[in-house]
Amino acid sequence: CGIVGYVGGQCALDVVLAGLRRLEYRGYDSAGVAVPADGGLAAAKKAGKLANLEKELAARPLPSGPTGIGHTRWATHGAPNDANAHPHLDNPGRVAVVHNGIIENFAALRAELAERGHVLVSETDTEVVSHLLSEAFSSCGDLAEAMRQVCRRLEGAFTLVAVHADDPDVVVGARRNSPLVVGVGDGEAFLASDVAAFIAHTREAIELGQDQVVELRRDSLDVTVTVTTFEGKDAEVRPYHVDWDASAAEKGGYDYFMLKEIAEQPKAVADTLLGRIDAAGSLSLDEVRIPGPVLREVDKVVIVACGTAYHAGLIAKYAIEHWTRIPCETELASEFRYRDPILDQRTLVIAISQSGETMDTLMALRHAREQGAKVLAICNTNGSTIPRESDAVLYTHAGPEVAVASTKAFLTQLVACYLVALYLGQVRGTKWGDEVRSVVRELSDIATQVDEVLETMEPVRELARSLADKGTVLFLGRHVGYPVALEGALKLKELAYMHAEGFAAGELKHGPIALIEEDLPVVVVVPSPRGRSVLHDKIVSNIQEIRARGARTIVIAERGDEAVRPYADHLIEIPATPVLLQPLVATVPLQVFACELATARGNEVDQPRNLAKSVTVE
Ligand code: G6P
Repeated sequence: CGIVGYVGGQCALDVVLAGLRRLEYRGYDSAGVAVPADGGLAAAKKAGKLANLEKELAARPLPSGPTGIGHTRWATHGAPNDANAHPHLDNPGRVAVVHNGIIENFAALRAELAERGHVLVSETDTEVVSHLLSEAFSSCGDLAEAMRQVCRRLEGAFTLVAVHADDPDVVVGARRNSPLVVGVGDGEAFLASDVAAFIAHTREAIELGQDQVVELRRDSLDVTVTVTTFEGKDAEVRPYHVDWDASAAEKGGYDYFMLKEIAEQPKAVADTLLGRIDAAGSLSLDEVRIPGPVLREVDKVVIVACGTAYHAGLIAKYAIEHWTRIPCETELASEFRYRDPILDQRTLVIAISQSGETMDTLMALRHAREQGAKVLAICNTNGSTIPRESDAVLYTHAGPEVAVASTKAFLTQLVACYLVALYLGQVRGTKWGDEVRSVVRELSDIATQVDEVLETMEPVRELARSLADKGTVLFLGRHVGYPVALEGALKLKELAYMHAEGFAAGELKHGPIALIEEDLPVVVVVPSPRGRSVLHDKIVSNIQEIRARGARTIVIAERGDEAVRPYADHLIEIPATPVLLQPLVATVPLQVFACELATARGNEVDQPRNLAKSVTVE
């Protein structure tokens, strides 16, 4: 969900609506705005896309003023309807609040408010805040102070932004766990869940810390930004310059952000490698501030992540164990802390997250740190919560990823994982064989190879279109090809809303083979015939087995792999890479495949139904 607040000389409503549009990529199911004007407060909110809200505003225009707030909501408490959409007002509508996150003690607060005679009209936790804020403002007359008083009573994760009819030159925000950034312009200031909302106006930003309240106040032509703690003490803030521009968040001529992001992968991969391997093939990861002696003591690596990032983690396990000989496990972040995992000072936990805000991953890393483990974040979003709370961070330099289904972030997560694995080996003095040396060399060719794959995707698109009316697609892989199969299936679920499943090819005979029937499309990711050739031969047998039972085989194999050709109804050739690096090239056709299938089925590619880009609830 997205939050926008504005104070300044422009028409606040226009700025807020444009900001919400920029945040659409985060996923939402209703939207709303509020502006204090003419001594009162005007608000509008609508279920569905922003277009619905704009239609409502065209029919019943709001007055324009110098301050305003807006919100795109992804339902957590209560259905995605007009009433539950934000902003939420108090009664009789003097204060408006927008909110991301969950207020865990809202039921108790609601009961307390009801006892004092408040009438709440929605099912949301947010409405509680507007009533509390209204009460606090009545007694102290200062919106920022009222916000501080209220925040001290709230439990859970939240970003709040509010305006009040009696203080119309002020917008106030508060942050605990959920992201909120301040944009500082000339005579104007912004609040937003991320910089994309205001990048068209300013590139100067301030990162808000945990448990801070910010006040944007307009006096004559200037706007003052004041940040305090929930207790009212002045807070230290970190101003920074946003180094990507508005065009980076636009589609750049592609029909969908996803297509643009798929095409950007060679550059993203190259950027993530940039400056991290020197000419002699040594890794310099200065950002990894975990001291060498601590890394040398590590006796276990645990990777936690969700969704696509989890698949990157599954692949990383193969690389870390193979190159460093440190036992490594990869776990879904949402499962991690609930099974009471065994962790101590010698455990290195790697948290992988594109957004850096995924609540499941954040909770897993907090649990790990409480147990004394060191946490290294692999993240794409500068200054987000996960890297802030980790001991160290290795940023992926994929640039902003807007499409909900992750593509370039995934490839850069893989690169970052390989770098971490190689770095661990280097720091610990693991005996490097020719294989590792060649991997380091070949990593620098990967961008070109991804580019080559992208240039040969037309037959994949054609194939995808021809399968648009299928009900099920299965994916098989072995070794690092197994997580690639899982990722291929996930992409298809997310985008094409098709039943898709990934299996370890070796498991086929233990059950999934029963699913094979005439003309069922099965995508098989074939490992390189070099290196671990036993695996290659086994998977060729698997292809024969399923084909004999009627499957339509779609085979992704290394160029020149003649052994698979006779059994492939469709052959997708990829460049030869070292065995462990193959996912970097093998995943790309699967992304293209899913994107094209979704388009053929008439689905919304960038914002698939029911999904959000950044899931900030557990
Ligand atoms: C959401 C997105 C997925 C993403 C996952 C993890 O579910 O829809 O595409 O893989 O979150 O996100 P993260 O930002 O932590 O990588």
